Amino acid sequence: MDLSDIFNKATRSRIFVDRSYLRPDYIPKELPHREEMINGMGMILAAALSGARPSNIFAFGMTGTGKTAVAKYVTSALIEHASKIKTPTPIAVKLINTRENDTSYRVLAEMAAGVNLKVPFTGLSVAELRARVINALKNKSIIYIVILDEIDSMIKKIGDSFLYQITRMNEEIGPSQMSLIGITNDIQLSDNLDPRIKSSLDDEQIFFPQYKAEELQDILSQRAAMAFLPDALDEDVIPYCAAIGAREHGDARRSLDLLRRAGEIAERKGKDRVTKEDVEEARESLDNDRIIDAIKSLTFDSKVLLLVLAMNRLKGKEKLTSGELYAGYEGIMDEIKGQSLTERRLTELVNFLEMSNLISANLISEGRGGRTKHIQLKTEPKRVLQSLADDPQLGDIVNMIRGSYLA
Ligand SMILES: Nc1ncnc2c1ncn2[C@@H]1O[C@H](COP(=O)(O)OP(=O)(O)OP(=O)(O)O)[C@@H](O)[C@H]1O
Ligand SMILES: [Mg+2]
Repeated sequence: MDLSDIFNKATRSRIFVDRSYLRPDYIPKELPHREEMINGMGMILAAALSGARPSNIFAFGMTGTGKTAVAKYVTSALIEHASKIKTPTPIAVKLINTRENDTSYRVLAEMAAGVNLKVPFTGLSVAELRARVINALKNKSIIYIVILDEIDSMIKKIGDSFLYQITRMNEEIGPSQMSLIGITNDIQLSDNLDPRIKSSLDDEQIFFPQYKAEELQDILSQRAAMAFLPDALDEDVIPYCAAIGAREHGDARRSLDLLRRAGEIAERKGKDRVTKEDVEEARESLDNDRIIDAIKSLTFDSKVLLLVLAMNRLKGKEKLTSGELYAGYEGIMDEIKGQSLTERRLTELVNFLEMSNLISANLISEGRGGRTKHIQLKTEPKRVLQSLADDPQLGDIVNMIRGSYLA
């Protein structure tokens, strides 16, 4: 064995062949248990191959049920098929994630990019940008399939009138034709949409049910066969990841994340086999990430409220009354010379934190018919501190608390 073999062997994974097969954006050659949705979407989009405009599609189902994967899978198969035969009209497809592109400008800029129209990142008015996209399509004569993914977050941010505008663009782009695929994991969205949008967007509806545990096992086994070395998984690893995903609304992404993280944990420990314990550890580590992300995305004042609760818990005081919590909040705001919110606003923030499952707040009866809220942190104080350590305004206080209580 020469030296480079030795070095290679030392760096070669004892767990993975290629972990990229477990990445959420990898689309496998087959999507088990989604035949019905694939064929349904395929039948609708097939119209494009003979030059007709496919009906708009509204695809909905809980997170991790394969909506984005199926839309990508079917449209890329469509394009591949179209490239082999002679279609009367060229077909273009663009997937736009409207959570990442969450302004009218950015959605239109993505639509432009999908037909190779160059537009500046900023600077034009939305009306001008829209006119340019329409003009480009007018001059092309194509069938343009636009996938608007995660439309619930776009609607939350900018309302649904822009979506209505997009559905109407089709009338102005002849001889080109546009089809929309709207995707959402907000099951109620369709009922809450403006009826005009609803009637134009959901010509066809495709529902994605939650995956059952056995279905998730098939999905995981398919990926695992490509991603892991033979015998790298204990036999109860896949069933366990699948069971956890199934319990959390049949979420394939959650199951895949667990499997990947468990593999990485085993690898870091220098093991050559992943066990159920590694999955357990993976679950904790993912939960930790999730909570940290949730805390980081809170408004500043909500962060201060959590910090007060975390600090008191470290001092040994589990529960605070609303009065104590607000006094602690005022104390920190004084210290950093910040402007305090009114009690009414703070009550709203407490309600939101409770809804986000970061705290619990119980109404407790006191003597003389009075009632007060007892508020308690639902996560480890050290997670709160970890999340806020690099906050520009709270970092110093966090480090002080860490120094006094966690040394
Ligand atoms: N039937 C399947 N076979 C193989 N992989 C799948 C299948 N369904 C989902 N996946 C994988 O699970 C992950 C989540 O799927 P996807 O992104 O399509 O979910 P989604 O329904 O779009 O969720 P969200 O609403 O959160 O966007 C992806 O990595 C995807 O490749
Ligand atoms: Mg998706």
